[in-house]
Amino acid sequence: MKKIIVAIDGFSSCGKSTMAKELAREAGYVYVDTGAMYRAVSLFCIQNGWMTDSEINAKELEKHIHSIRIEFKTNAEGVSETYLNGKNVESEIRSLEVANGASRVSTLGFVRRELVRQQQFMGVEKGIVMDGRDIGTVVFPMAELKIFLTASPEIRAKRRMDEMTAKGETVNYEDVLANVIERDDRDQNRTESPLRKADDAVVIDNSSLTREEQRGILRTLFAERTL
Ligand code: DC
Repeated sequence: MKKIIVAIDGFSSCGKSTMAKELAREAGYVYVDTGAMYRAVSLFCIQNGWMTDSEINAKELEKHIHSIRIEFKTNAEGVSETYLNGKNVESEIRSLEVANGASRVSTLGFVRRELVRQQQFMGVEKGIVMDGRDIGTVVFPMAELKIFLTASPEIRAKRRMDEMTAKGETVNYEDVLANVIERDDRDQNRTESPLRKADDAVVIDNSSLTREEQRGILRTLFAERTL
């Protein structure tokens, strides 16, 4: 069977990472969550006091961009976790504060160039499933399988709210929906590599698909591309 690169792009909270992780496990591929890399840069800024509500100290960040080391390690349960300069930051990077910061640092060209370089390096041997916003358009324009995953903002807000409630957080649906819409807007309208569907990507709208239906579609596409 041919080893390929699978690029999964789409809006936030569409279930990209669940889909990508499952496929990687079934295929024996490496899974890379590129959103976690932008989140790690955001956390690095917050830790250094370079991010306030109104601005990012881009000058300092640019000076130190090469001292940010991001790695993924698999834990005892077989789950991939994010490390920033040797420290496990998997749960820290999932906060709303870090997510909002990630959406802001991801608009900076020098941040994108550095992370894209690292991502391309991870894919040199293929056998990789990578999810993000620009994987099929910028990181791996030659990927053999490109998926553009989407769902309505209301459905994504509801899913995100369920996740947060399950973690014991108290959240308001209207706030979560407003945050989803704000991040969509920033992802789609930034100058540097805005989120857009690659011309040869397959669109999957999972608003009304079951997990099993989605899995079936992806398995078929993967089988066709690896023949
Ligand atoms: O997928 P996520 O929510 O973990 O991503 C965090 C932020 O990083 C999000 O605002 C979009 C941005 N991002 C990006 O610009 N390019 C990527 N390849 C992945 C994420």
